[in-house]
Amino acid sequence: MGTGSSKETDGGSEGSKDRLDNDDQSGRQLYVSLKMENHKLTAHLVPHVVGSWESSKALPLERESVSMWELSFVVPPNHETLDFKFLLKPKDSDVPCFVEEGPSRQLIGGALGEDARLALFKVDSGEVLEYQVFVKADRVSPFDLAASWRAYQENFRPSAVRGIPDVSISSTPQTGGENGSSAGLELDLEHYVVPAPSTSANSAHVYAANNTENPRSLISGSDGSSSSTKEMEVVVPDPSKVFQSSGMVESKSVGTFSPLQKHDSQKGHFVDRGVGSPRLVRSSSSNIFSGDNLGTGTKNSMPAAAGAVAAAAVADQMLGLKEDRHLAIVLVGLPARGKTFTAAKLTRYLRWLGHDTKHFNVGKYRRLKHGANQSADFFRADNPEGMEARDEVAALAFEDMLSWMHEGGQVGIFDATNSNRRRRNMLMKLAEGKCKIIFLETICNDVNIIEKNIRLKIQQSPDYAEEPDFEAGLADFKNRLANYEKVYEPVGEGSYIKMIDKVSGHGGQIQVNNISGYLPGRIVFFLVNTHLTPRPILLTRHGESQDNVRGRIGGDTAISEAGELYSKKLANFVEKRLKSERAASIWTSTLQRTILTASPIVGFPKIQWRALDEINAGVCDGMTYEEIKKNRPEEYESRKKDKLRYRYPRGESYLDVIQRLEPVIIELERQRAPVVVISHQAVLRALYAYFADRPLKEVPHIEMPLHTIIEIQMGVTGVQEKRYKLMD
Ligand code: F6P
Repeated sequence: MGTGSSKETDGGSEGSKDRLDNDDQSGRQLYVSLKMENHKLTAHLVPHVVGSWESSKALPLERESVSMWELSFVVPPNHETLDFKFLLKPKDSDVPCFVEEGPSRQLIGGALGEDARLALFKVDSGEVLEYQVFVKADRVSPFDLAASWRAYQENFRPSAVRGIPDVSISSTPQTGGENGSSAGLELDLEHYVVPAPSTSANSAHVYAANNTENPRSLISGSDGSSSSTKEMEVVVPDPSKVFQSSGMVESKSVGTFSPLQKHDSQKGHFVDRGVGSPRLVRSSSSNIFSGDNLGTGTKNSMPAAAGAVAAAAVADQMLGLKEDRHLAIVLVGLPARGKTFTAAKLTRYLRWLGHDTKHFNVGKYRRLKHGANQSADFFRADNPEGMEARDEVAALAFEDMLSWMHEGGQVGIFDATNSNRRRRNMLMKLAEGKCKIIFLETICNDVNIIEKNIRLKIQQSPDYAEEPDFEAGLADFKNRLANYEKVYEPVGEGSYIKMIDKVSGHGGQIQVNNISGYLPGRIVFFLVNTHLTPRPILLTRHGESQDNVRGRIGGDTAISEAGELYSKKLANFVEKRLKSERAASIWTSTLQRTILTASPIVGFPKIQWRALDEINAGVCDGMTYEEIKKNRPEEYESRKKDKLRYRYPRGESYLDVIQRLEPVIIELERQRAPVVVISHQAVLRALYAYFADRPLKEVPHIEMPLHTIIEIQMGVTGVQEKRYKLMD
């Protein structure tokens, strides 16, 4: 190691003499930047440097990216000749310390005494570690230093972005020209529209009931998945006798048996899923829960959930009553009160959280069994055939739901009017010992909304698809409604949630009775916060970041030039799209690429959400996918196998991301004004999956291109999607 010698500013070595002679040296300082690069992962060994500026102390280099370490410092003018050496030290300890091979390095008057050679370290195992070394030195005046530090802080440093308050309100809208956002975006937003992938959920023209479960007991093929709608003879069950016998239970479909066997033989191996609980299995030999891959559709797989949902699952498995492990949400309400819409929305939310949930619509069973064109007479309470037929299809649907629960299904949403006690008693009897029932009653006192719903129904419901005369359809439906009104009995029994005037757009209220448990509590919370006021939600990734350009994941880099252009185009777009929506808000993550993307947008409040930060890639943060494949092949393979559940070491999985996004979803549901969400690929995949009702296993693979806006329109008829591509 060098002597620690340092000369006074005397002109230094030959190499730097000219520079020193030509410059006025007064007050100038040497700005030194040292970098070491090694592609082999040696994260436990931290490169340090020890030099003549302070020979007793080794300074650690900081990790700049996965393979690069860096240290910059300023040396006072009296240190013109510096000699130094690199060391490797374990994290959090001084031993063993490996000093680089060969002589000390010298920096004389700002120039390196020799060509930068590799730094070689012989480590314990006898292995030699090689680091590439980059040394840069500049003479700078204190003024230059201060100025460049300021510029660095203002323009590039994350701290500068973080200097923007978490919540900021810039209420002075400016025109595109003034805010620099006039980057050639034409006024005609339609010009930027690109086709959206079509999903069952994003077409407002699909009647929600059509997307519900296929009546398995009415359709050939045991799972009801057959496209054939051939009708089968149906035997009406006597509800009081159903499920009393053990073992095989006769189904209502002649010649078939529903799989309602008792699984005693599997005791200790198959453990039912709990309410609020995704699938779990307790191994027969131990009390340890284990799991297999998601998406196989088999029993005994681990939950498609993380965090609170998984914790509740375990608690329910260990402690819950068997019948409480399955939950039926039984809708109650007069026709045209938004039951099917509410049921569909709740199904979407629970599925997204990882609860195995299905929506059973009795109307679908009725249409299949008795045809779609029943007149209002069919629904009269004093029509015994009609009553029997309606009870029959309700019992069929309910039993299909129980069969599915027995196979492992967790939450059934049972969608029918169920508008009198007699019917509800029948369902409670069917459910005895099989599942817990919560009634969900939708009440609407606003005649205008009811009228609107009725009209929508005539336009959309398959019940009126063959009625060419709209007015005749309207009159018939109003008769049907009157028939129901005559015998309607509001819920007052059991566990229930009443949603009163929640569709009016003015708040409404929720009444609950006898509700307890994790999942029921969560359902109430969701229902309290949702409403049907139409408003757009705009989802977009940040503008291209510097790490995107380098193909590195994670990190917190600023945006590239293309990213900046997008930020301006986005500002222009938002200004035009939401010009009449002053209550709209802009949500970003806390990472600078989203904050910088939002920065040209003015006139709207901006809110930073930690929950919107990109998936945490843990030890792989900052790597390229190639580097992960090369340096951490096991991680690469595990992620490839199960991208949804794979959790980066010291990072997150997609399921973790979904868990942390729940408050964001609740707030998006609660907001009545438009929201622009500027976030990241993985996070937007998870958010988009909620709105588009995409299955969890697809989430990590959803396409989420840069520089594209996905507009989600939420309203009474469901969710609609439109995409704008602002840049090629
Ligand atoms: O590459 C951009 C990025 O946002 C990364 O920061 C993040 O790790 C990644 O996308 C998420 O996508 P995937 O789950 O497909 O790796």
